[in-house]
Amino acid sequence: METKTSEMTTIGKKVKRVDAIQKVKGESKFVSDYEFKGMLYGALVLSKHSRARVKRINTDKAKKINGVKVVLTYKDIPGENQLGEVVEDMPCLVPIGEEVRYFGDVVALVAAESQQIANMAADAVEVEYEDLPPVLSIEESLKNEIKVHESGNILTSKKIRKGNVEEGFKQSDMIIEDDFFADYQEHAYLETQGIFAVPEPSGMTIYGSMQCPYYVQNAVPKILGISMNSIRIVQSDTGGAFGGKEDVPSYVAAQCALLAYHTKRPVLLSYSREVDIQFTSKRHPIKSHYKVGFKKDGRLVAMEIKAHMDIGAYATLSPIVMYRSLVHAAGAYDVPNVKVDIDGVYTNKVPCGAFRGFGSPQVLFAIESIMDESSKQLGIDPIDLRLKNALKVGSKTSTDHLLTESVGAVETIMHAIKLADYENLKKSVSEFNSKNRFKKRGIGVSHIIYGVALGAAGQSLDAAGALVQIQRDGSVSIHVGNTEMGQGMKTVLAMIAAETLGQKFEKISVENTDTSYVQDSGPTVASRATLFSGNAVKEACEQIKSKILSMFSKIKDVDEEEVTIKDGVIFSGDVKMTFEEIVGICYNSNVNLISSSWFKSPKLNWDPKTGLGEAYLTYSYATQIVVVEVDMLTGRTSVVDVFTSHDVGKALNPVGLTGQVEGGFVQGMGYALYEEIKMRDGKILTDNFSTYIIPTINDIPQSIKIDFVEDEFSQGPFGAKGIGEPSLMPAPAAVANGISNAIGKRVKSIPATQEYVLNLIEEE
Ligand code: MOS
Repeated sequence: METKTSEMTTIGKKVKRVDAIQKVKGESKFVSDYEFKGMLYGALVLSKHSRARVKRINTDKAKKINGVKVVLTYKDIPGENQLGEVVEDMPCLVPIGEEVRYFGDVVALVAAESQQIANMAADAVEVEYEDLPPVLSIEESLKNEIKVHESGNILTSKKIRKGNVEEGFKQSDMIIEDDFFADYQEHAYLETQGIFAVPEPSGMTIYGSMQCPYYVQNAVPKILGISMNSIRIVQSDTGGAFGGKEDVPSYVAAQCALLAYHTKRPVLLSYSREVDIQFTSKRHPIKSHYKVGFKKDGRLVAMEIKAHMDIGAYATLSPIVMYRSLVHAAGAYDVPNVKVDIDGVYTNKVPCGAFRGFGSPQVLFAIESIMDESSKQLGIDPIDLRLKNALKVGSKTSTDHLLTESVGAVETIMHAIKLADYENLKKSVSEFNSKNRFKKRGIGVSHIIYGVALGAAGQSLDAAGALVQIQRDGSVSIHVGNTEMGQGMKTVLAMIAAETLGQKFEKISVENTDTSYVQDSGPTVASRATLFSGNAVKEACEQIKSKILSMFSKIKDVDEEEVTIKDGVIFSGDVKMTFEEIVGICYNSNVNLISSSWFKSPKLNWDPKTGLGEAYLTYSYATQIVVVEVDMLTGRTSVVDVFTSHDVGKALNPVGLTGQVEGGFVQGMGYALYEEIKMRDGKILTDNFSTYIIPTINDIPQSIKIDFVEDEFSQGPFGAKGIGEPSLMPAPAAVANGISNAIGKRVKSIPATQEYVLNLIEEE
């Protein structure tokens, strides 16, 4: 029996974030806050070449330093020297005779009594290399003259073949064609990567900052040559992740576990910011070519897209990221003819991986730039052009997925128009521009689709478990397999539990993820925690609730159908008692109030040969309108106003959602304007926040107006879909379009830094 929205006590209400107080008071325990008796500190010996053969590793000097416990090389790996979440192409430690493939590959590991000694010893490890010419660009990689891996430089290719694009272009009245480039982005989580490996009599416990404890539980036993039941992974409070702690912590944990294994002592391996930026994954640079055909009235007829992704030195998660790029490449539109080809190519640079949006912001920037440019050439307002082509119930996506429910795309457009007071906004912007000679404003629009959860390519991982127990005092303990990394999952799950059980929100506690409580629940990625863990928690709570209801009806002799639990009180008419009282009675009657449950993705039909089928379980939608201001003399851009509407299915926690959308916008704006990875010969030069520039509070627009469309999804908990990634995805495109409209020239590359914009302004 579903509770009606109007009767709900917690869902949709304003609640205090469950981890707010501990975070504000500095009481959260991040991995570097842990202390264990006899602990050691780890450090990495990183490659100083983009491509070179390891000739000799001399650890003698390092080992002689006072306080150094071990210096390890590939020879010290008891299991397989093999990492890689999807493709096993990455060594844990590069062996003698093999190649280092990027500036950041790991050659040796050190554990010492202090961090300072460990760092000193890492510097003292002598590695002799034979320098080899590296592959540093997509173009060089495609030549395939120098091979990053023996198998060849193209890791994999993905495609969509829907309808017939040649026919589509013949029927088109206007064809527009262009090239776009979206560069790297660094996650810039505040807490760097960190793992604590603690040897136990029965194996090892690993604590750490991570999104995916089960990935770690998979990776480490292979390296140590032990079974999965002798290793327990406990997530420590995690200070941001954004995709950067999806697969990477598995590598950090493998390194750290090796040190703990050999020293038999607890080891903390906490990366410095410089090591973190040099070694760990980034958003993929994507070069794309778009050819798009329209009818005179603005209807999309055909889209042909060719894109190349720079995956770096190892595959890591790239094949899955490429799948999301593929499905999102044609944008949020109803297009009868679609042809997409995406290649992922190896280079001797940092491996790219997961980052909020997961391969979609780059292609959405391209298609949304095309839509903006087309609206000018067609003489149709950019919003009307989106409206004309938007997906509805009954539409088919670019992968030919027939949409049958929860398609709030058009509503997000209508809400954004209203939120922005669009007609007046256009007037005020042109008024501003007529009065100002050296400052110009522009409106940028974007409209996006987001496939929720892992989709057809990740079905084998798309399930999640929950373990709910009611303690004797009526308080509730919940374990799930997904993780809190700052996004607010614990709060939303506590809300779902409170609403379902009828217990007060304050009585619910969601514990940090521990692999010993819940079965492998897949990764905490793809904006799937609310939907997957939410459904699992809801079901477990329903199972317990029915036991409580039947106990009450038995002892009070009332009809079970008439019994309600709400806000900590169980009642039937005037007969009532507190949640705590009925739980006490259950305990005294030996009723078991613990339940585990499992939610799994319904089967999706997908054909990888044509790229057609049910790509994702459901989709979220968003429409964004921004106003940017460009200083025409310096090229400096700032975002003045943001209006953004998101179809989330159901706003379970409106305050949390607002926080996600604000943060997502700012991170997307950073990608559009400031964040630039600079390299020399494959070495990242911008390896700290003094050189890698992220937005600060000074750069945040004066207003971010946010609106939610609630087009409920029948399989979501209370109708909810996901927001984590779609909060960022419209921003880069909207900001870039705003700049293009302010300066009257098309931004084709992001980040559109001050230098880039100034060059564009000055270009003839
Ligand atoms: Mo997320 S980028 O799917 O970790």
